[in-house]
Amino acid sequence: MKNRSAKRIGIFGFGCVGQGLHDVLQDNPQLQVVRICVRDREKLRTLPSHTFTYSPQELLQDESIDLFAELISDPGEALLIVRQVLQAGKTIVSANKKMVSENLPELVELQQAYGGTLLYEAAVCGSIPILRTLEAYYGNEQLQEVSGILNGSSNYILTKLNSEGLAYEEALRQAQALGFAEADPTLDVGGFDALHKISLIAAHAFGVVPHAADVLCQGIQHISKRDVTLAQALGARIRLVASAKLNAHNRLAVQVLPTLVFPDSELYYVEAEFNGVQLKAKYAGDQFLKGRGAGSHPTGSAVWADVSAALAGYKYSYGKLQQAEVQLEEDTELRLYLRTPNPELLPQLDWLELTSFGVDATVAQLIGTVRRRSIIAHAATLAAANVFIAQVPDSVQVDDVLRASLLDAVEVA
Ligand SMILES: NC(=O)c1ccc[n+]([C@@H]2O[C@H](COP(=O)([O-])OP(=O)(O)OC[C@H]3O[C@@H](n4cnc5c(N)ncnc54)[C@H](OP(=O)(O)O)[C@@H]3O)[C@@H](O)[C@H]2O)c1
Repeated sequence: MKNRSAKRIGIFGFGCVGQGLHDVLQDNPQLQVVRICVRDREKLRTLPSHTFTYSPQELLQDESIDLFAELISDPGEALLIVRQVLQAGKTIVSANKKMVSENLPELVELQQAYGGTLLYEAAVCGSIPILRTLEAYYGNEQLQEVSGILNGSSNYILTKLNSEGLAYEEALRQAQALGFAEADPTLDVGGFDALHKISLIAAHAFGVVPHAADVLCQGIQHISKRDVTLAQALGARIRLVASAKLNAHNRLAVQVLPTLVFPDSELYYVEAEFNGVQLKAKYAGDQFLKGRGAGSHPTGSAVWADVSAALAGYKYSYGKLQQAEVQLEEDTELRLYLRTPNPELLPQLDWLELTSFGVDATVAQLIGTVRRRSIIAHAATLAAANVFIAQVPDSVQVDDVLRASLLDAVEVA
């Protein structure tokens, strides 16, 4: 029998996340699924064919629908759907970090102009409630830093390299076979997925919407066993860390960088496909959230949490975005580990200090301090030359003793 008081939802997408949401809704009969819009008419489905439509407009123009969930894998089409819903003053939740992060100013304006609502917790770290935490608990408190492991695929690969000594290609193959990485893994291993997520975090935590071109973004795709061995010799693990950090002059540095993390950091213990986010707040101090950052049910759960919140009238306040007191940092000094098969590239970077501990005709390994802007300016050249870069804490000072032991480790690798 139909539940007459049930709210009605239209869903776009029935892949990993759409199916996860559908499963979660089986436990929640107060929400009735009207139709699910998909693209491929030939695909075998686990639900009866009358559940599906292939026409987005059929859903978008159905006046009986109370709210929508946009869970498709096509960011261009997702934007058109979200735009149309918001222009009609209606409510939609989305999991699409690329679409939301690249169009946030427009999407905020549309909500303000037409009174509709867009929520997108599932787009950032799957089941970890980071955006709502930033909005609800830190909307009025100054944050100093939000950083973390925001991409489960690359963390799975890095974990395998560290704990099992696998080669990068083998770890990537395993991640793909388990569904943690896409057939085209570029967005994940290139750092772009984490970049989309940290951009959304920066908007909610600091009121800044960074342009991708201004953000230092390096992935893990050039990592080798030498790099892993070096990190281990220092007592560290390599993690892909995305961060938004405020300096004393209210300037925000946003970056995605492989980073050497040590046992005194919570991120050291975030393994496999898990995500972890750490917050540093002026009065609350440090906090850490860890959980499943992707996957069908964890992400479906986050979408359901947004749907429930939206039905209860919840909207993002975008409080810090309205105040716009913080600006993006244009340049900083970075302490880096760098390995390059082409030592001739090194003089092109703006080094402030440099220690090399392994240079021969085929590879150079260095730790030094460099201007962030020079890494951004040479990003394409560094990528083409398969250079691997990782951030190193200032506390790692390479004296002669350490240099000798690193040389030993590098030779063993
Ligand atoms: N997977 C995760 O763990 C995860 C986590 C957080 C966020 N997300 C985000 O959630 C979204 C969906 O990801 P997913 O992993 O569920 O993708 P997926 O498994 O590839 O499924 C994508 C779904 O979108 C449908 N679709 C694609 N283009 C469409 C179009 N133009 N019109 C209508 N339907 C269309 C597909 O239809 P067919 O079934 O007909 O092919 C499919 O049902 C993406 O934005 C992703 O970034 C995913």
